[in-house]
Amino acid sequence: MYPTTSLLCALFLPSAAFGRLETWEQGSSSNFRGTCDKIAKAVSDASQVFFPPSTQYLSDISHYAPSSTQESACSVEPGTAEDVSKILRILGSTRTPFAVKGGGHATNPGFSSTKGVQIALARFNETKVNYKDGTIEVGPGLTWDQVYTALNSTGVNVIGGRIPGVGVAGLTLGGGYSYKSSQYGLAIDNVASYELVLPNGTITTVTSHDKDLWFGLRGGMNNFGIVTKFVLRSHPQAQIWAGLIFYTGTQLGAIKGAYAKFQETNDTKASLIISIAYSSGQFTIVLNVFYDAPTPPPGLFDGFLAIPAVQNSLSTRSFSDYVVSLDSFAASGTQRTFYSGIPVIRYTPAMFDAFSDQTLFWGTRLEALDKNASVIISMEPFDSSLLSHGTPSAYPPNRSQVIFPSAINLLWTNASLDATMARALRQTTDLVRAAVLADGQDVSHAAIYVNYALFDTPLKDMYGANVPRLRKIRAEIDPKDVMGLAGGFKF
Ligand SMILES: *[C@@H]1O[C@H](CO)[C@@H](O)[C@H](O)[C@H]1NC(C)=O
Ligand SMILES: *[C@@H]1O[C@H](CO)[C@@H](O)[C@H](O)[C@H]1NC(C)=O
Ligand SMILES: *[C@@H]1O[C@H](CO)[C@@H](O)[C@H](O)[C@H]1NC(C)=O
Ligand SMILES: *[C@@H]1O[C@H](CO)[C@@H](O)[C@H](O)[C@H]1NC(C)=O
Ligand SMILES: *[C@@H]1O[C@H](CO)[C@@H](O)[C@H](O)[C@H]1NC(C)=O
Ligand SMILES: *[C@@H]1O[C@H](CO)[C@@H](O)[C@H](O)[C@H]1NC(C)=O
Ligand SMILES: *[C@@H]1O[C@H](CO)[C@@H](O)[C@H](O)[C@H]1NC(C)=O
Repeated sequence: MYPTTSLLCALFLPSAAFGRLETWEQGSSSNFRGTCDKIAKAVSDASQVFFPPSTQYLSDISHYAPSSTQESACSVEPGTAEDVSKILRILGSTRTPFAVKGGGHATNPGFSSTKGVQIALARFNETKVNYKDGTIEVGPGLTWDQVYTALNSTGVNVIGGRIPGVGVAGLTLGGGYSYKSSQYGLAIDNVASYELVLPNGTITTVTSHDKDLWFGLRGGMNNFGIVTKFVLRSHPQAQIWAGLIFYTGTQLGAIKGAYAKFQETNDTKASLIISIAYSSGQFTIVLNVFYDAPTPPPGLFDGFLAIPAVQNSLSTRSFSDYVVSLDSFAASGTQRTFYSGIPVIRYTPAMFDAFSDQTLFWGTRLEALDKNASVIISMEPFDSSLLSHGTPSAYPPNRSQVIFPSAINLLWTNASLDATMARALRQTTDLVRAAVLADGQDVSHAAIYVNYALFDTPLKDMYGANVPRLRKIRAEIDPKDVMGLAGGFKF
C-alpha cells in the first residue's frame, strides 16, 4: 500500500502531467489593460472597475487560499445583470481571458482567478425570503455562512455549504452536499430557478422547463454563462444539535467500530463527516456531528460519545451559529491548499485503515518538506436515498448509484512547493483509489465530485456518460466559446 521511496523522489522530477500546472499562466496581465478601460466606459454607475494596488482590487482577486489567487489586470464588480451582459460581450469580442469569482473558495488555480479580467460578484449579495411561494433568492457573491446568518431568525433555511467561506455560486453550480442532503438532496436539487447571463450577453431565467440549460447548470459549473441570482426552495429550520469531537489517532479502531453500527441507522436528519488528519506531528480524528433537531434520538451517536475524546463541542444552537462556529475550517490567509475527490461506496474498516495509512505516510513526508504541511482525508456518508430528491443533472451522472464524495486535502505554506504538492496529491489519490478497488468496491464508473476534483481530473471521471450531451449543449449555447476564456473544467 505504501508508495516506494522512488515514487517519492519522482515528486521532484518534471513530467507530462505537470504541463497542466502551467495552464493557469496566461501571459502578462498588462496585455489586458485596454479591455479594462473598455469595460469601465461601458458599465453603469452600479458597477466599477478596480486596479492594483487598490484595496477593492485586492479583495476582488483574493481567494480562500493564496494558491488559487492570481494577479489580474483589473477587477470589475458588476452591480446589475445588465452590466454583466455588457462585460461578457466585451470579453468575448476582445477574446480576453477572465474569471468569475463568487465566494472565492475554488482551490484549483485559474478556475475563478486569472491574469486577465477578474469579475467579482461581491455586489450580488442579497438574501431575500419570498414567503408567498416559499423560495429564497440568493446572490452569487455571498458565502453560505452569510446566507445562514441572514436567515437566522426566519425559521426557514436553504440547502448549502457546511463550513464558513464556501461560496453560494461554486457549490451550487457543482452539485452541493449539505448537512441536510440526506433529507432534501443536493443543493442543485433545491434550485427553483436561475437568473443567467448567457455567453452572448442575453439575460434569461432558467427553470425546469428549459431542458438543456436546466440539465447543464445543475453540476456543469461555469460552462453556460454567469448566474446572477439563485432562487432556492426553502425548508423549515428549528434549532439543531451539532458539534465537533476531536479524538487522538489512537482511537481509530474504536471509531471504526462505532461507525459500523451508526451506518445501519437510516435517520436522514443525521449528518456525519469523519476527518482523519495529520498536522504538526499530530495524528487526529475529527467528527463533525449534526442532527437536524434540538436533541438527537436516544442512542443514535452513543457509540461515538462513549469513546474518550480530547474535545467535544456538541450543543443545541441555531444552524447559522453552528456553521459560523466552524471558523477553524476557514481560510488562514497564508495556507495554500489543493483538494482531490475520491468516490467511495462504503466506508468499510479497510477504508478507515487505508485513509489513516495514507494520511500518516504523506503527513510525515510532506512535513519534512514544509513543517506547516497537513494532510486531511474526509469521509462523508449520506443516506442511501441521497440522490432520489432530484431529476437528471450534469452531476451526478448516475443517480442510481449513491457515492460518498470523500475528499483528500493537502495544506502547506511554501509557495515553491505548489507543483510538488499537486503531484503528491495526485499520487495519494491514485493510491486511495486503488485501495477502494482492492476493497471490492466497483468505483470504476463512479463519479468524482466536481467541487473536490483536482484540476487535472478528466471530464469523464466527473460527468461519466453525460459528457457528449454536455459538449453538445455547450456548443449550442456558446458557439463562440466565450466561457472557454474563463478557466475551469470545460466541455
Ligand atoms: C451588499 O453590498 C453593498 C455594497 O456593495 C453593501 O453596502 C451592503 O451592506 C451589502 N449587503 C450585505 C447583506 O452584505
Ligand atoms: C441566531 O439566532 C439565535 C437564536 O435562535 C441567537 O441566539 C443568535 O445570536 C443568532 N445569531 C446571529 C449570528 O445572529
Ligand atoms: C433502514 O431502512 C431499511 C429499509 O427501509 C429498513 O429495513 C431498516 O429496518 C431500517 N433500519 C433502521 C435501523 O431503522
Ligand atoms: C448506474 O449505476 C447502477 C448501480 O450501480 C448501475 O447498475 C448502472 O449500470 C449505472 N448506469 C450507468 C449508465 O452507468
Ligand atoms: C509556517 O508558517 C509560519 C506561520 O504562518 C510561517 O512563519 C513559516 O514561514 C512557515 N514555514 C514555511 C516552511 O513556510
Ligand atoms: C521552500 O521550498 C523550496 C523548494 O523546495 C526550498 O528551496 C526553500 O528553502 C523552501 N523555503 C522555506 C522557507 O522553507
Ligand atoms: C443568445 O444565445 C441564446 C442561447 O443560445 C439564443 O437563444 C439567443 O438567440 C442568442 N441571442 C443573440 C442576440 O444572439
